[in-house]
Amino acid sequence: MASLTLRDVRKSYGATQVMHGVDLDIVDGEFVVFVGPSGCGKSTLLRMIAGLEEISGGSIAIGDREVNDVAASKRGVSMVFQTYALYPHMTVYKNMAFGLKQIKTDPAEIDRRVRDAAEILQITDYLDRSPRNLSGGQRQRVAIGRAIVRHPEVFLFDEPLSNLDAALRVQTRLEIARLHERLETTMIYVTHDQVEAMTLADKIVVLRDGRIEQVGSPIELYDRPANAFVAQFIGSPKMNFFTTSDLTTNSSEKLGQTIASNMQTGMRPEHLDVSDTANAVVEGSLELVENLGEYALVHLKTASGVEFIAKTERPPEVAKGSTIGFSIKPELVHLFDADSGHRIT
Ligand SMILES: Nc1ncnc2c1ncn2[C@@H]1O[C@H](COP(=O)(O)OP(=O)(O)OP(=O)(O)O)[C@@H](O)[C@H]1O
Ligand SMILES: [Mg+2]
Repeated sequence: MASLTLRDVRKSYGATQVMHGVDLDIVDGEFVVFVGPSGCGKSTLLRMIAGLEEISGGSIAIGDREVNDVAASKRGVSMVFQTYALYPHMTVYKNMAFGLKQIKTDPAEIDRRVRDAAEILQITDYLDRSPRNLSGGQRQRVAIGRAIVRHPEVFLFDEPLSNLDAALRVQTRLEIARLHERLETTMIYVTHDQVEAMTLADKIVVLRDGRIEQVGSPIELYDRPANAFVAQFIGSPKMNFFTTSDLTTNSSEKLGQTIASNMQTGMRPEHLDVSDTANAVVEGSLELVENLGEYALVHLKTASGVEFIAKTERPPEVAKGSTIGFSIKPELVHLFDADSGHRIT
């Protein structure tokens, strides 16, 4: 097990800089999730930690040891990829044993580690099978097993579940959570699935265009996003953003704070209630109701044509096109600077 320290880590490909100085501290045993839109640099950062990609500046330390110039195989990290990258001509057992054999581990020790990992991942029954005769979920467990047998100090996962169907994703997500609980090894996990990020992480790192936007626990990011980008990235459906022209004239009064024209007001769909216009901070016509049984998504369209969504337990019982309003508890409103996007207060 090990901590990780990234200081001003940079990466350029030729003249194009893709990582712009990343500072990050990861505590020993922590489960850290990197999230962000496609192309923001999640895989690049992970590969630099793994040693599969050179860094162009800064430093990376695993434990007390700077690893800038240490080969990938000597860093004590194991990586699991989105594509399982198993050897098709080898059995599951041999796939898992391969890396240890390469570094001339004692055969009895290899056998012990492979069987231990297989037990943890419940793939003991498949040890003699070829990967081609396994399901996607089983193959991914073999790939994780191959990482486990090396007893790494840090596990790195790059979107390990994205090739699995929805049900299997949920199941494997739980297995990874249990694995972390059991091994207590530092794990860094890349995903663009915010449900995975929220449920697995001790700490989420939100990346955008090669920079860190915010680091925090899932709840910190949900409750107090540092800026409008993070606010929109965490939570589903996305947070609604209002400008003063979208809000009802006396909404500052209703919210107990002045909403100035240089502010963006953020309200999460699950915090909005359908209300009479007397209490509403926004008014408009009922555009659409998506009823999912468990909850309904109510779409309101303002006179100026902007659409907002409330997530409510029961949809309003009025016809489409009727005038409706949304209300919110003042303490659930987020304010951001309209220009910089930074959180106000
Ligand atoms: N070998 C390379 N040469 C040039 N640019 C590269 C190279 N590899 C990655 N990039 C660029 O670096 C940036 C970050 O890529 P990266 O693969 O880390 O993104 P990502 O966050 O993992 O995205 P995704 O969610 O799509 O996997 C992108 O703009 C990408 O085009
Ligand atoms: Mg990637």
